[in-house]
Amino acid sequence: MTLQHDQTATALSLTVTCIPADDEALQVKALALAEALQLNQDAAGSPPQFLLVYTVKGLELQTLAPETGRYSTTLITDFVHGSAGYRRLHGGGIHQPLARAAGLKPGIRPTIIDATAGLGIDAFILASLGCQVTMIERSPVIGALLNDGLQRAAAHPATRDIVSRLQLLISNSREVIASLPEQPATIYLDPMYPHRHTSALNKQEMRTIRSLVGDDQDAAALLETALTIAGNRVVVKRPKGAPELSARRPSHIIEMKNSRFDVYLTNRLKSED
Ligand SMILES: C[S@@+](CC[C@H](N)C(=O)[O-])C[C@H]1O[C@@H](n2cnc3c(N)ncnc32)[C@H](O)[C@@H]1O
Repeated sequence: MTLQHDQTATALSLTVTCIPADDEALQVKALALAEALQLNQDAAGSPPQFLLVYTVKGLELQTLAPETGRYSTTLITDFVHGSAGYRRLHGGGIHQPLARAAGLKPGIRPTIIDATAGLGIDAFILASLGCQVTMIERSPVIGALLNDGLQRAAAHPATRDIVSRLQLLISNSREVIASLPEQPATIYLDPMYPHRHTSALNKQEMRTIRSLVGDDQDAAALLETALTIAGNRVVVKRPKGAPELSARRPSHIIEMKNSRFDVYLTNRLKSED
């Protein structure tokens, strides 16, 4: 697992801190992250909208509720327990829609670029099924939360092997995939949903990610780049009823209850992997 920063923090109202405030190990981590994110700590200013807080549980993002003036935890990555843990154990193996869309078959585990990594849930599922997955995330804040979850999962016996199949790059995918040393079989895209399709937006996590990263307006351009690179296929997750991301028709579509996978076959590699 590697973490590369090639992007400075955007102009977010954000402070890095730790709880308990006098825990020296957590202080060291908080200082290192503030430096990596190049944050200007302005103690005299108005309260920041977001806090990145190191606690004994890990790094969490807390959001200010202006009406109460209080912060509450909105994002923390946990690959060992919670929904990622459940999907790892009971997700349906290579027959689940994500795995079929990405091209997993008996004996075939494609190399995958997850070009919109977010909190890494989808990439983690694919790695838990045996794929080597390179995750690319351009938001340094989301990337820090993801990296922290990966580090904790790397230290846990139930998830250590899975994490060894994951790599994280903090960068813009369009630039990274255009200069990859090896052609990936599958490129996976799950850009932010348009505002009017609200199934994912109802979740507080997704609303918070949107307020941090925006709307991924360049998703169609990312798909075009991915289609020129992927060895076998590009997979795009879309909300149910949303228009396709490209004028090109998908080769096939895998429907789910609230969303679907548009699969664009490129078939440049001879074998599936
Ligand atoms: C909906 S979230 C992805 C959720 C993810 N599939 C998961 O399982 O957690 C979309 C993420 O893609 C990232 N993103 C969008 N376009 C990107 C690009 N060109 N390069 C890198 N990251 C990108 C956004 O910053 C955002 O964090």
